[in-house]
Amino acid sequence: MKFFVDTADVEAIAELNALGMVDGVTTNPSLIMKSGRDILEVTKEICGIVAGPVSAETVALDADGMIAEGRKLAEIAPNITVKVPLTWDGLKACKVLSGDGHMVNVTLCFSANQALLAAKAGATFISPFVGRLDDINIDGMDLIGDIRTIYDNYDFNTQILAASIRTVNHVTQAALIGADVMTAPPEVIRKLADHPLTDKGLDAFMKDWAKTGQKIL
Ligand code: E4P
Repeated sequence: MKFFVDTADVEAIAELNALGMVDGVTTNPSLIMKSGRDILEVTKEICGIVAGPVSAETVALDADGMIAEGRKLAEIAPNITVKVPLTWDGLKACKVLSGDGHMVNVTLCFSANQALLAAKAGATFISPFVGRLDDINIDGMDLIGDIRTIYDNYDFNTQILAASIRTVNHVTQAALIGADVMTAPPEVIRKLADHPLTDKGLDAFMKDWAKTGQKIL
């Protein structure tokens, strides 16, 4: 499973990228707002750090506007993925932009039928929002499983990008189901390394090592 980092925080992206943990980046208007940066500038900087797909989201609500914005965003770098919302206009924009040869990430997906439409419109990635479904007491992982089954039934090439990942358990579940990609905030990716038995074991090793009085260097 590929790891995308869901942030426009350049320092966090660079830190995780140096560890080989970043296969791509996703941003959205809220994350751009949180960064306090200009969208074109910060996206260009991110594309200079990460070789994989970097999603930059359009903000127009009509297809023509999304297409124009998508083409402008795509000029930033060859690894830009244009992100459009899962509306009829978004699907129209997806069809045109993917026809132009751009990678397209269709976002704000909350149903299997929406995911089916995105695949038919030529999406490179579909982004089902797991956490936001969990927020309204619907199991977001069920949606990932349903989309996996449907895409496999018909050999769709659209990659399932499990989004709105909020916990380390979401990551495990998405990987078990076979999501192609997951995107998570930097803090969730860092937490994947945590385990209390690792901390406990390391503590015991350090105490015993101190008793030996030895040094390696
Ligand atoms: C995905 O591309 C979105 O940017 C993101 O995963 C949304 O996550 P949230 O529901 O935690 O805001």
